[in-house]
Amino acid sequence: MSVNVKDFGMDNMPMAVLEEYGAKTKDPRLKEIMLALITHLHEFVKEVQLTEEEWFKAIMFLTAVGQKCDDKRQEFILLSDTLGVSALVDSINNMREGIGTENTVLGPFYETGAPEYPMGVSIVQKATEKGVTAVICGKVLDKNGSPVSGAVLDVWQSSSEGLYHMQDPNMPEHNLCGRFTIGADGEYIFVTEKPAAYPIPTDGPVGVMLNACGRHPWRPGHLHFIITAPGYDRLVTHIFTNEDKYLDSDAVFATKSSLVGEYKACNDEALAKELNIEGPFEKVEFDFVLMSAK
Ligand SMILES: [Fe+2]
Repeated sequence: MSVNVKDFGMDNMPMAVLEEYGAKTKDPRLKEIMLALITHLHEFVKEVQLTEEEWFKAIMFLTAVGQKCDDKRQEFILLSDTLGVSALVDSINNMREGIGTENTVLGPFYETGAPEYPMGVSIVQKATEKGVTAVICGKVLDKNGSPVSGAVLDVWQSSSEGLYHMQDPNMPEHNLCGRFTIGADGEYIFVTEKPAAYPIPTDGPVGVMLNACGRHPWRPGHLHFIITAPGYDRLVTHIFTNEDKYLDSDAVFATKSSLVGEYKACNDEALAKELNIEGPFEKVEFDFVLMSAK
């Protein structure tokens, strides 16, 4: 029996590979993704004329990324974040027509099960020594400016020292996290401490990559939010801290000018008394606009 031997080489790459995957992949979406991936991957290898040493270094890098992952650490998400892919996927999937509050990345520090609080309380279970007290308030509205009664606002953040509760063994679980249910007036208000800029984890291969490429690992200070309400698009977003020096170089490419909150010193004694605040504090007013579910 004679068998025709196919010749594979520079002349028929990537066409030979594309023909094989194109002919045999049944799922249409998987086929579309695989064919585009193979096309771009081959073009990339040809463009940079990848050496065998570089190819093996890339294999070892991806291996190290996988080996760094466990149930608390997700190095692949960090890799995606630092290459701007997470922010791009978020943008493609969450167009807001210039009306709704913009989405941004979820990040790796969200945990379900945060305490449910009534409006006006503090989400600080254990304060940071030099933390700046901040009142965060505003409304959750629909695109016509009407309150979205019953929306649930989930907030989580790093401390004034730049650590999330799961990163600091001295913090109680869910410190600086909370869930609030929006009432008929659409308003929300809570007390917290001003979040500081923080570096993404650099003790793994992604840190090595950032260092090799001359990039810093810092994110500007921010509060994270997920806001959900029946009949509306889920909003995953941040309020960034104004005047943070990393606003123009976020390590994960997730800043948007529409999401910067203005922290202003507040001398409202009646508000301080109502919210049980002692000493100086700052205030941010920020309204969220939800879009109707598609
Ligand atoms: Fe964050």
